[in-house]
Amino acid sequence: MTLNRRQFVAGTSALLAVPAIGRAATPPKTIEARSGLARIAPDSYPETEIWGYDGGVPGPEIRARQGETVRRTLLNSLPQPTAIHWHGLRVPNNMDGVPGLTQEAVQKGDKFQYDLPLKDAGTFWYHSHNQSTEQVARGLYGAFIVDETNPPDRDHDITVLLDDWRLGQDAQIVDDFGSIHDWTHAGRMGNYVHAHVSPITEVLTNQRLRLRLVNVATDRIMYVSVRGANGKLIAYDGMPVTQPEDFETLVFGPAQRVDLVVDVTSDVGEAVQIILHERDEAFVIAELPVSRRGTTVARGTIEALPPNPVSVLKDVSDALTVPLVMEGGAMGGLRQGSYKGQVMSTDELVREGQIWTFNGIAGLPKNPLASVSRGDVVRIQIKNDTVFPHAMHLHGTHFQEVLADGSLGPLRDTILVDRIETREIAFVADNPGDWLFHCHMLSHQAAGMKTWLSVV
Ligand code: C2O
Ligand code: CU
Repeated sequence: MTLNRRQFVAGTSALLAVPAIGRAATPPKTIEARSGLARIAPDSYPETEIWGYDGGVPGPEIRARQGETVRRTLLNSLPQPTAIHWHGLRVPNNMDGVPGLTQEAVQKGDKFQYDLPLKDAGTFWYHSHNQSTEQVARGLYGAFIVDETNPPDRDHDITVLLDDWRLGQDAQIVDDFGSIHDWTHAGRMGNYVHAHVSPITEVLTNQRLRLRLVNVATDRIMYVSVRGANGKLIAYDGMPVTQPEDFETLVFGPAQRVDLVVDVTSDVGEAVQIILHERDEAFVIAELPVSRRGTTVARGTIEALPPNPVSVLKDVSDALTVPLVMEGGAMGGLRQGSYKGQVMSTDELVREGQIWTFNGIAGLPKNPLASVSRGDVVRIQIKNDTVFPHAMHLHGTHFQEVLADGSLGPLRDTILVDRIETREIAFVADNPGDWLFHCHMLSHQAAGMKTWLSVV
């Protein structure tokens, strides 16, 4: 087609209207933190009053493609200040959503714009990072899925958020968020584990499913298996494994994720089930009924996903080694600790709601655990001198575990360190800024377990 003069003129002026840099930016969408009602308990109970993004639990699933930039303006309509952390995304430091470290908390009625360039594909999530023991327990979280440029072969892509609610007989949230008993022990355990599963129309026999499991509970470790489908584990905490792995019962510390690719082995009338294992019991927490017969053509082998553009460690011989000793909690024998620059006895600490220490310090210290230069290899030796497990989460970058034989584990952003156990992690500090490092049992975090790293 040849352009006539009018079309040509219209064309150029339209071009001139476009800002000089790149495509016209779409205005950021608003995400409102506010109260709402959600169906959590079974139908015979009333709905639960929650706090949620856009008033729902979970908040809207954010979905975009690797390489894109997601923009969201947080509007705070809660009775408390808040902020959003984009868990596992390697974002610029000032977008990380940590009040007191990377931004001011957003006051009631105020807004904050988050611009999130998506470097990595995978399963991530977002949640409140202010008074999070309460705000996450009330429902302020959602899934954040970044699609690969060429997503792997599958019929359904299903997000399963595993949550833990403490509900009264009226199905309302019990508002005992500051319970010292919870904080000194394993955290605030609910009485109702619930799975939010993305709505899918129907599952057929032999279909291939990608399951993205996320533990969004504030404190509960979950033991989960899948029945009625067979396959492989393809990613931990959003990062692909180099070789798909067999799996049985999966252990999820708070905030941990796993991606599975499984083929349906259940028959029509049966279901694919997500099972929660608690002590010696097994509970079905989610079911995908198989409604019809699908094709019987055998599926191809489950391939590894392409790696994300992360600096993978080669060896850790030149690493800067940083010790981190965890102490405190019930039966921990903590004698004293420093809090806000003052040395206090255990009784004084408890009066401040501080029960756990990292290297003798409770709460966010004035100085970082370590100050390193961009590109340094950092190795943190996490020694758990308490009688509780802790789910340590590093912001801003994924790490690899240094295993006993010196080999390196898969990339993760949260590691579950068992009682009286020492584990080591290492990473390339390639994301500049101040990054929080804390226990993702949010009660433990509130009661002291947090520190930070400075990368300059
Ligand atoms: Cu998912 Cu510091 O948090
Ligand atoms: Cu902990």
